[in-house]
Amino acid sequence: MTVPPMSMPKPMIVAIDGPAGSGKSTLARLLAARYGLAFLDTGLLYRAVARRLVDAGYRCDDPDAAVAAAGAITTADLESPHLRGEGIGNGASMVAAIPRLRAALLPVQRRLAAQGRGSVVAGRDIGSVVLPETPFKFFVTAGLEERARRRFEELRRRGEAPIFAQVMDELAERDRRDESRAIAPMAVAEGAIVVDTSAMDVKAALAAVVAEIERERVRETGSTITGQQP
Ligand code: DC
Repeated sequence: MTVPPMSMPKPMIVAIDGPAGSGKSTLARLLAARYGLAFLDTGLLYRAVARRLVDAGYRCDDPDAAVAAAGAITTADLESPHLRGEGIGNGASMVAAIPRLRAALLPVQRRLAAQGRGSVVAGRDIGSVVLPETPFKFFVTAGLEERARRRFEELRRRGEAPIFAQVMDELAERDRRDESRAIAPMAVAEGAIVVDTSAMDVKAALAAVVAEIERERVRETGSTITGQQP
């Protein structure tokens, strides 16, 4: 008698796309804890490439240097405290428009996302390009002014002296670049649920997304997921 191979449960993937300052990373981190999944912030990959280019004196629109930098990324790069600023965010948005760089990062993201029980993956093109097969897709957004206000407060908490109009202009410019690039532009993926957090606190946004995941889960398998409470 042949024993059938033990089937591993399919990793659960939750795709969270959306613009800068929408609260998607906070939400993704809480969701990951709620369901016992890993949190993968794909923006860090683009930021790490930009960081390497800037540090080595290259332009952020240099395809050869960007692809070489992507191949050299280590875990230490992703854990660097120097990835967070708005300057590197803009650099990341520039490298993100390079088709060869996106192609190089695609298999990396898919491999990382599928490890273990699965992941909550935050980015711009996760539901549309990187992991379009997942049934759990969200586009988290908020009005430009509200996102600028959140970013402004965050910079103030870090001890910086931001200028509100400048923060808002930079966010608008980044939105424009991320939405208008020819390859994998930021967009609401087919089948994604839009969550506008303009008038929501984090708790309300988390509850809204969890409710949708549970609804989808029932539709898919007829059962609910019992995750850990945050
Ligand atoms: O999410 P973030 O602000 O850390 O992302 C920085 C930039 O990286 C963002 O402006 C566009 C790019 N990015 C992308 O093009 N695709 C992703 N999946 C994640 C980020």
